[in-house]
Amino acid sequence: MDKQSKYRELLSQIEVFANVEDKAISVLSNCAAVMKMVFPKEYFWVGFYIVDGNELVLGPFQGTPACTRIKHGRGVCGTAWKEGRSIVVEDVEEFPGHIACSSLSRSEVVVPIFSEGIVVGEIDIDSTELSTFDDMDREYLEKAAEIIAPFMARLATV
Ligand code: SME
Repeated sequence: MDKQSKYRELLSQIEVFANVEDKAISVLSNCAAVMKMVFPKEYFWVGFYIVDGNELVLGPFQGTPACTRIKHGRGVCGTAWKEGRSIVVEDVEEFPGHIACSSLSRSEVVVPIFSEGIVVGEIDIDSTELSTFDDMDREYLEKAAEIIAPFMARLATV
């Protein structure tokens, strides 16, 4: 299956979880699981960070243990939050202030999740290879973020 077909499949799976309308933490957990299932090699680490005041706090994820809290403006995640935009990083070593949760991470994509125009959380994905993510990843992950937004909004403290 090519990447676009995988993303279409992923979005339809996320829609299914979103339509169940269960606890937000359960929906996000299943979303992280299905993301890892669809992209087992490309997504070394995939998960959510949730806005908690002036920090991001770790949410449901699949992968190695990660930083629990990230300050506004710090690292890729904190920068994507501060700037309110998705960030694709081809080489994490070239990103000023990158927070290395795992030394195996080489490239990354971070997509903010908006609710009523405010960032309430993020999707964060790391790869062990350089330049894994491109505009197609960003576009589909932004669509995923829209579906996930109402659940993330319930968990966030903004
Ligand atoms: N690399 C991220 C930190 C989170 S971990 O990758 C899971 C950053 O610089 O924001």
